[in-house]
Amino acid sequence: MNEVNRFDNQNHVIAMHNVSWRRDGKTVLEGIDWQAAKGENWALFGLNGSGKTTLLNMINGYIWPTTGTISVLGHKYGEVDVREMRKSIGWVSSSLQQRIHASEKVQDLVVSGKFASIGLYEKPASEDFDRAEMLMRQLGCGHLLDRMYQTCSQGEQQKLLIARALMAEPKLLILDEAANGLDFISKEGLLDSIQELALQPDAPHMIYVTHHTEEIVPAFTKTLLLRRGQVFRQGNTADMFSGETLTDFFELPVEVSWRGNRAWLSKK
Ligand SMILES: Nc1ncnc2c1ncn2[C@@H]1O[C@H](COP(=O)(O)OP(=O)(O)OP(=O)(O)O)[C@@H](O)[C@H]1O
Ligand SMILES: [Mg+2]
Repeated sequence: MNEVNRFDNQNHVIAMHNVSWRRDGKTVLEGIDWQAAKGENWALFGLNGSGKTTLLNMINGYIWPTTGTISVLGHKYGEVDVREMRKSIGWVSSSLQQRIHASEKVQDLVVSGKFASIGLYEKPASEDFDRAEMLMRQLGCGHLLDRMYQTCSQGEQQKLLIARALMAEPKLLILDEAANGLDFISKEGLLDSIQELALQPDAPHMIYVTHHTEEIVPAFTKTLLLRRGQVFRQGNTADMFSGETLTDFFELPVEVSWRGNRAWLSKK
């Protein structure tokens, strides 16, 4: 690697250069060039099947690029132990919910995030419980401490999973369709918490993956538009979510109205 690239990767949370991924004769990702700099939170926006989850799997080191290079938190994949890397990456997705034991105590569930385990097998210190409680309060779910996970609503469960991810003090937090299936109140509560979290001085870098423009809160100042496995466009969220850009993106006339610093989409 030349010096320019090394510098480049050190200053980025994620640096992808010409990344492609092919499987069974199908090109799922092609020519992805994406650099998420420190201090930027990114939204990843694309239709079903556009390659978002594949991209996340690559960031977590579960799959390898067919071509191109990827660096995460200054480490080039191929030269670093991805299992170690995963300790610095928190991943919250609605699919994680299915893997939680229904009868798990909320407190244990959150604390288990420190050990990157599902279920609590190691003995946590009392500071770990204190930290879990602090994180839950920060996310507006401190009152759930003594509950069973299964008795919490879906919105509460999502917040708990974020608190759980934060227990490991990740440097990068990936929120994959975190607001899926939530009602209006729960969703707004979760989005407020995410916005507030992003404003904390010690907040991790965040990536928010979604199908819905209006879920992208102002903390996500940058957006990558992914279409059919390729970067359609990337840049400032406000520029990405213009009627003109999204009409090109969807190949369908749409208009965007900005309310509450969020983009609301409708068909023309
Ligand atoms: N292991 C695989 N083998 C073959 N094709 C795959 C594999 N994984 C993903 N794909 C295909 O790659 C494309 C992108 O999938 P991916 O799951 O990344 O999309 P996505 O943007 O996350 O979609 P969604 O919004 O529906 O979650 C899809 O057409 C999918 O069928
Ligand atoms: Mg997906």
